[in-house]
Amino acid sequence: MEAILLVGGQGTRLRPLTISTPKPLLPTAGVPLLEHQLVRARDAGVTRIVFATSYRAEMFSEAFGDGGRLGLDIVYVTEDEPLGTAGAIRNASTALECDADSPVLVLNGDILSGHDIPAQVAAHEKGEAAVTLHLTLVDDARRYGSVPTSPDGRVMDFVEKSPNPPTNQVNAGCYVFRRSVIGSIPAGRVVSAEYETFPQLLAAGEPVCGYVEAAYWLDVGTPAAFVRGVNDLVLGTLPSPVVEVDGSGVLLLENASVASTARVDGGTSVGAGARIGAEATVESSVLFDDAVIEQDARVVRSVVGRGARICSGAVLEDCVIGDGVTVRSGNQLLNGARVWPNTELPPTAIRFSAE
Ligand code: GTP
Repeated sequence: MEAILLVGGQGTRLRPLTISTPKPLLPTAGVPLLEHQLVRARDAGVTRIVFATSYRAEMFSEAFGDGGRLGLDIVYVTEDEPLGTAGAIRNASTALECDADSPVLVLNGDILSGHDIPAQVAAHEKGEAAVTLHLTLVDDARRYGSVPTSPDGRVMDFVEKSPNPPTNQVNAGCYVFRRSVIGSIPAGRVVSAEYETFPQLLAAGEPVCGYVEAAYWLDVGTPAAFVRGVNDLVLGTLPSPVVEVDGSGVLLLENASVASTARVDGGTSVGAGARIGAEATVESSVLFDDAVIEQDARVVRSVVGRGARICSGAVLEDCVIGDGVTVRSGNQLLNGARVWPNTELPPTAIRFSAE
């Protein structure tokens, strides 16, 4: 089976991490975020994947090449201007090789999901659907596209980000399209799958189906979600074929070092060459390669960028620290504070909070 992977977004909600690296390539428990889904797609029978790229397109081919390393055949189609989700699917379809009736898997590049892809494809074929969406269940559907279905699995409506969602079944960002249906999406202009393509298919009476499965699912759109996704991979809450979990609750990458008196836990990932000093605490956090946490520093639910230095006694809670930043002693950064790359916060006794 062939697949299209949507990876052209700018990832604005994850800045400054996405200034130098697109969201799908952010280091996530030792590999680029999208690698977890790529390998799951391969294990589900996908052999060839078209990457729909736009923002920093060249970084994807540098990371994955022709896909041989992962046992996949990967090709790249780059938009001159971002075409939106359905516009990107249409544009990438020029590189598909399958026939008009074949199922094509379409994946958002920023999702972590444990759902059963072959079961979704089987539901698509059984329903002879134009498109079949994976629908997951969330407690509060207001931030998502809510998708009610009939008892036989047919989608009845698409209600995007409503204050009164009709159901807690939401669009999980993984679709199976009949190839010919992709051909009906207008070419060469911005088209949204969520706001345009899916509602139009429904209005035209096309069979649009929902495959409901409440397996592990996370939209890695915000810093908090990114941190949670890494923690869940390291803790084994979301098993990934490319992460080896040893039960310690910590992932140490190549040449990472942790002082024996430091406390590191909660699904923390310590990047290659990163160092954690004596008496430091690092809890449920993500340290990119070569980050340094000095002695007595405290880092909780935060991301520390490549080569950044958190000096002795500094405190970070729920923060994003860009690449190459130095946070000097005395700083306390709390509640979603973000520090842009290559800046230096001088020694201080000031608490800075985003709220
Ligand atoms: P935010 O800017 O933080 O909303 O993130 P985003 O740019 O990734 O947007 P969003 O989370 O809505 O995108 C969902 C998926 O579609 C992601 O995998 C994006 O990379 C991808 N995507 C969004 N817009 C485009 C586009 O115009 N072209 C392509 N090729 N992919 C897109």
